[in-house]
Amino acid sequence: MARAVLFLALLCAVASAVPVAVGARKMVGVYELRRGDFSVKITNWGCIIMSVVLPDSKGNLADVVLGKDTIAEYVNDTSYFGPVTGRVAQRVARGRFVLDGKVYHLYKNDGKNTIHGGGRGFSKSIWTVKEYVRGGDSPYITLYYHSFDGEQGFPGAVDAYVTYRLSSPYSLGVHMNATALNKATPVNFLQHTYWNLGGHGSGDVLGHTLRLFASRHTVLDEELLPSSGRVEPVAGTPLDFRTPTPIGARIRSVMGGRIVGYDANYVVDGEGMRPVAEARDGASGRALQLWANQPTMQLYTGNWLNHTRGKDGKVYEQYGGFCLETMGYVDAVNHPEFPSQTLRPGQVYKHDMVFKFSF
Ligand SMILES: *[C@@H]1O[C@H](CO)[C@@H](O)[C@H](O)[C@H]1NC(C)=O
Ligand SMILES: *[C@@H]1O[C@H](CO)[C@@H](O)[C@H](O)[C@H]1NC(C)=O
Ligand SMILES: *[C@@H]1O[C@H](CO)[C@@H](O)[C@H](O)[C@H]1NC(C)=O
Repeated sequence: MARAVLFLALLCAVASAVPVAVGARKMVGVYELRRGDFSVKITNWGCIIMSVVLPDSKGNLADVVLGKDTIAEYVNDTSYFGPVTGRVAQRVARGRFVLDGKVYHLYKNDGKNTIHGGGRGFSKSIWTVKEYVRGGDSPYITLYYHSFDGEQGFPGAVDAYVTYRLSSPYSLGVHMNATALNKATPVNFLQHTYWNLGGHGSGDVLGHTLRLFASRHTVLDEELLPSSGRVEPVAGTPLDFRTPTPIGARIRSVMGGRIVGYDANYVVDGEGMRPVAEARDGASGRALQLWANQPTMQLYTGNWLNHTRGKDGKVYEQYGGFCLETMGYVDAVNHPEFPSQTLRPGQVYKHDMVFKFSF
């Protein structure tokens, strides 16, 4: 019932789309950030990056982000095209954890486990537009979400902010923070954009070269849980991207859970704001470099895309995009051997990413 009403409200909101008047900032809209010929479109439904348009080496513009045409389609989407996921991204084993002696049960939306914060996580919620500057030297949008005590089973209320900012030519910053208002809670966000530097819908990304600044990974089992708690070197495995290597070079020998492809969690070398990944598409000459301040990064290669309907009449097939999802350790709340992702009242969670594009 509530869902149906929400859905109708969204359809109405979408029909009137684009600029949202002050006073109606919780209405769903599409917001463009533009700096010259570099354009990024964001919606406050799920904090989604809907498109990133930039030139290639010959000056041809393309949208390098996979997605949908309308918000109504994002509402139905099960591939997580472009949102911020939370309160706890990736999996929580059996949708259960113990914190300060209390047992919590989450909404399970991935078989026996919880993924991306449950059935209605941050990626399936309406965010409030706090500030929006479309153009100039530093276009940005700040989105806010208040997660209530008990939402999807999580303890305590949380305030979350995400700012998308074009702070230098062809660079997109993603700045996330959160505070716990009354109880300790696990917090772990990620940004789930699928990239294809040749342009979305232009085919697979197996020919893109990828370099990862990561010499270790957390071992994930068939359910993509770090059940053993082991962290192992990537050396000598198909997970090793320490030197630039085509994504497709060894993909056939990798299982991402129950399907062939990468769905691996890397421990990024070093700490603080530092290079995490570089990807390049030889054909278009486009490249991206990701910097971030998080301990791990999930690499996902669109293994489950399968004739998936996308924007502009395009259809996305398996390996049609890749995601570089920086985050804390997966399921840290159930693994005391991992650095903690527990946020206590008075503490601040801060997650910064910068995507720097070149061509
Ligand atoms: C969303 O899913 C519902 C239920 O399957 C369907 O009726 C509706 O047409 C879908 N909407 C879009 C925009 O795909
Ligand atoms: C979180 O980000 C918002 C928007 O940039 C900012 O106003 C707020 O002060 C930040 N909160 C903390 C605790 O850093
Ligand atoms: C893709 O979809 C087809 C048709 O629904 C199905 O037969 C096939 O098993 C799917 N492939 C994967 C990898 O899920």
